[in-house]
Amino acid sequence: MKALILFSSREGQTREIASYIANSIKEEKECDVLNILHADTIDWTQYDRVLIGASIHYGHFHPAVAKFVKRHAQQLQQRVSGFFCVNLTARKAEKRTPQTNAYTRKFLLQSPWQPDCCAVFAGALRYQQYRWFDRMMIQLIMRMTGGETDTSKEVVYTDWPQVGRFALEFAHLPAKSQ
Ligand SMILES: Cc1cc2nc3c(=O)[nH]c(=O)nc-3n(C[C@H](O)[C@H](O)[C@H](O)COP(=O)(O)O)c2cc1C
Repeated sequence: MKALILFSSREGQTREIASYIANSIKEEKECDVLNILHADTIDWTQYDRVLIGASIHYGHFHPAVAKFVKRHAQQLQQRVSGFFCVNLTARKAEKRTPQTNAYTRKFLLQSPWQPDCCAVFAGALRYQQYRWFDRMMIQLIMRMTGGETDTSKEVVYTDWPQVGRFALEFAHLPAKSQ
């Protein structure tokens, strides 16, 4: 049986994190990495573990995440499962746990699925990739919260060793009988 890693990503950081996790555990677990927007039909018989990673834009996950979780809550609950949230608020260490990160806490409170493990990762700031309006908005938020405001810069805040530790935690969770 394999692990399925689903990601929801706009500028690519969550996709990169999903690939990093798959790569970190490839010795112990074969993984398929799939964009949640293209996950209409899943052959669940292939998977005994599932991980969902999603990023935040203007305070929200992509609506496809909640839709997927609602539709597949039973399949998710039956398997060993995990969730991770990617956002820039988490660049501050004190906002990088499921309990202290407001987006993640709210997701877990509202979700019909309760994952067996959960993490919050800091994302990336890629001013040059953003449309003008988004660039101005993010710069404003960064100014208000003491972050990088130089729009010529690209900053990856992701703590890769933290991602690696979470990957192993997910891979080593005890199996569930289905
Ligand atoms: C238009 C826009 C809005 C964002 N809004 C938020 C936000 O409300 N809160 C936050 O913590 N991070 C916010 N971010 C930061 C993203 O979550 C971060 O850049 C993350 O790495 C994006 O991941 P992705 O590339 O997988 O989509 C925003 C980024 C952009 C470009």
